[in-house]
Amino acid sequence: MCGIVGYIGSRNIKEFLIEGLKELEYRGYDSAGIAILQDGALHICKAVGKLENLINKCASIGHEGFGVGIGHTRWATHGKPTELNAHPHLGEFSYVVHNGIIENFKTLKEELDPDRFVSQTDTEVIVHLFERELRNHSDPFKAFEATIARLRGSFAILLITKAAPDTIFFARESSPLIVGTKGEEIFFASSDAPLIGHAQQVHYLADGEYGFARPGEVVLFHDGRRIEASYQPLTIDKELAQKGGYRFFMEKEIYEQSEVIGETLMGRVKEDRIEFEELDRTFFEGIDSITLCACGTSFHAGLTGSYLIERLAKIPARAEIASEFRYKEPLLRPNTLFVAISQSGETADTLEALKMAKRANLKTLAICNVDNSSIVRLADRTLLTRAGIEKGVASTKAFTTQVALLWMLALYLAQRELPPSTLERELQSLLHLPTALRVPPQLHERIRRLSKRYLHGHGFFFIGRDIFYPLALEGALKLKEISYLHAEGYPAGEMKHGPIALADPELFTIALMPKGLLYDKIKSNVEELSARDATICAISPTPFELADDYIPIEEQEHPMLEYFQMALVLQLLAMEIAIRLGNDVDMPRNLAKSVTVE
Ligand code: F6R
Repeated sequence: MCGIVGYIGSRNIKEFLIEGLKELEYRGYDSAGIAILQDGALHICKAVGKLENLINKCASIGHEGFGVGIGHTRWATHGKPTELNAHPHLGEFSYVVHNGIIENFKTLKEELDPDRFVSQTDTEVIVHLFERELRNHSDPFKAFEATIARLRGSFAILLITKAAPDTIFFARESSPLIVGTKGEEIFFASSDAPLIGHAQQVHYLADGEYGFARPGEVVLFHDGRRIEASYQPLTIDKELAQKGGYRFFMEKEIYEQSEVIGETLMGRVKEDRIEFEELDRTFFEGIDSITLCACGTSFHAGLTGSYLIERLAKIPARAEIASEFRYKEPLLRPNTLFVAISQSGETADTLEALKMAKRANLKTLAICNVDNSSIVRLADRTLLTRAGIEKGVASTKAFTTQVALLWMLALYLAQRELPPSTLERELQSLLHLPTALRVPPQLHERIRRLSKRYLHGHGFFFIGRDIFYPLALEGALKLKEISYLHAEGYPAGEMKHGPIALADPELFTIALMPKGLLYDKIKSNVEELSARDATICAISPTPFELADDYIPIEEQEHPMLEYFQMALVLQLLAMEIAIRLGNDVDMPRNLAKSVTVE
């Protein structure tokens, strides 16, 4: 996910910008750049890959003395990770960095001279729009104000221009931005970490705030009216700052899901269809079955995807565990599409399974979170999940973005055949995901309190039916990997075929009971367990009288929205139990984030 820094003052400006970007590295990026305005001259430097590349390239720019500068790390979403697409973006005499998405950039671009555009990004429109506005308004701030008034979407923007060589113009809408001061010096960043040790006080911009900063002065506006900044001292703990105030990266990543799912959907869910700029219809010609292959949590996403693809697109789909697939001597038929699903893009078993599919001349598609990873480089096509870097070993936001993408893929394959009203319902439900994935404080608190009752016993069953079966597997995996308690996921209908023999009060059953899918069936499965004295914790929009504990989710129009809300509950439950047991939630024992060996 992208990061922003900015500086006005007389310290070594290049050093500050690069050090600031280093502090944002943990967010993940695939290109970076800085721009400096000193003595009336603009200098820019951009590079693909690690910051080292940028440092090597920009050795000759910037010098001691007063200047203004902006910097950016980019995680590609619109347009490939190339130097041209890296920020800052330039006009004739101005530079801009931007986080977020300008939703109406195509319309705006049509108004401007298309020959000026050199990148595939939405961001570039900002700088050209600003320079055009500057022809109508002699005051650069008025031109900036007119520019941001035209933008729709989410943004954190810093802009520098020769027309105001001691100034940074800034704006925030739904994307974090902080301004800090120390005497005459002014600092900007998209999160605390780059400012720690530099700024004395900071103001966290609220949505709709914008303004300009000059040495010793930050002028802030909202809705055309001047407002006062509310400065506060800055925390001094860097790791705490990177965790955004959360106790663990896992917790931060659970809370981030609402935002990153928005990124996953961005530009792909249109009014009447799904569109992937990375794919065209011809890629799917001749495909009559789909194999989804992955490990661990990614396999659970794949299993969910197999239900969705068969149900919506009517294409036979099956999910395979990569480590099994490699050695089962699978029949690889040429009309099968092979989909490799991986957060890291480096998992050895998934990579090897993909190589097998390639050798058998299957068409291959990667669903992955890391661009340029081995799996992405090998697959014919890639859909990036856009979850941003995931630091917690227990996967959370990578999982939900994978499932969202698979849901979109199922609809993409189905949309020509689906009745318009069904398609509309699906698309509307997809668009509701960012809302469904917000964590209500009372829900988290309820789970936290409940968690104290689940620290013992001889094990957990997570049960669900249909798509809630893969989710039950994921809930059990989440719990076992960070709490070290024994947990199994089961299809609820299977309990009476053996596992129910274990039922007693010390066996905790986490029952996924969606209102919108097979409610009566799962209810009778849970009744059977309750009759044998198992302790039941029901997760459902409807209270269930036989449950010992009940975690409510909201009533939803679509079972997939129930699915995502339950995913949130299962992640929080696992985390709260693990915290109570005193475990290191982010780095559980025996586990690695990326499993690059067989
Ligand atoms: C569990 C978890 C693992 C990974 C698995 C595959 O929380 O993170 O089960 O899902 O190791 O990793 P990727 O998705 O990187 O291929």
